[in-house]
Amino acid sequence: MSSESKAAIAAALAEARERTLSLVEPLDDEQLNTVYSPILSPLAWDLGHIANFEELWLVQRIGGREPLHGELGRFYDAIENPRKIRGELPILRDAELRAYLADVRERTLEVLDGVEIGPDAEDRLLRDAFVYEMLLAHELQHNETMLQLLQLVEGYELPPSIASERDSSRTGGTSEQMVRIEGEEHEIGAPDRGFAYDNERPRHAVELDAFEIDRTPVTNGAYIGFMEETGAEPPLYWERDGEGWVDTARGRRDPVDPAHPVIHVTWDQADAFARWAGKRLPTEFEWEAASPRLDGVGHGWEWTSSDFLAYPGFEAFPYREYSEVFFGGEYKVLRGGSWATHPRVIRPSFRNWDLPQRRQIFSGYRCARDA
Ligand SMILES: [Fe+2]
Repeated sequence: MSSESKAAIAAALAEARERTLSLVEPLDDEQLNTVYSPILSPLAWDLGHIANFEELWLVQRIGGREPLHGELGRFYDAIENPRKIRGELPILRDAELRAYLADVRERTLEVLDGVEIGPDAEDRLLRDAFVYEMLLAHELQHNETMLQLLQLVEGYELPPSIASERDSSRTGGTSEQMVRIEGEEHEIGAPDRGFAYDNERPRHAVELDAFEIDRTPVTNGAYIGFMEETGAEPPLYWERDGEGWVDTARGRRDPVDPAHPVIHVTWDQADAFARWAGKRLPTEFEWEAASPRLDGVGHGWEWTSSDFLAYPGFEAFPYREYSEVFFGGEYKVLRGGSWATHPRVIRPSFRNWDLPQRRQIFSGYRCARDA
């Protein structure tokens, strides 16, 4: 691969890092180390984990070098260290943490200089720069987890570029229009080439019956109607304010705009809404088959009725802990992306997943029904 492609990778790595650092720029070390919620890591852990994942894959694995801090990496293993204990781990903090991020990056760029990353690269990790795309996606996905936590930080102001991404993604609509998708075979999953996670492969044909799906995600206004009629719980961060509702994320009290897509709802809330509306949640295959004709993707992840399962012929790559250990009936699949998701991460085959009772994620939904 040309040095131009390497320069593009280096630039993308720099852009991702700038975004990461812009998120924590307004915070002091104490805030970085604070555990705000048992289901979210302190930001210092996320930062160290971002650097450690980079060190592990791009410096140790690809570059064959020794780690900078010996056994430290085990405290950044996401499976070994559940979120609720991450605040107590002997992780790097403050100046040491910032130095680690910078030192790893320096080594990463040295290693990048000397590797072959073309389509014919022998190591599958390097072929088409897979491991670099994985690293970029990882850092950007952690940006989103960090933004989930930042919703809990009183007075936190979003970096201007991210605030404008959020505002421009709020293309709400109040129409209840549905799109009809014909019953036929649809190709589901990511093609063989290019970057995608193992859980998106292999691409395979799925036979779908004809169905209809909402053209736009469900709005705050529609959700308020549902709450008023059924007594359902409000989304996370909403509080009653006189006759209306306010969004209290980041300690603010922003009036809820009825035209915006609803977010911070659980799968259970979304599912109950759909039944109330005489509809149902789409399956993830229906969502993907309809995605070329769907508007409004990208403000909130969209819950589907599907459990997070392996596709037929699934092969874990490059490590079991990204997807395989989560397969089963416990997690529900979300599709699309949210305002906190970097565009590089959004693609029709991308599968996100979470527990049905969770709503710290930026989760919304749209409904479907049999045609
Ligand atoms: Fe991670």
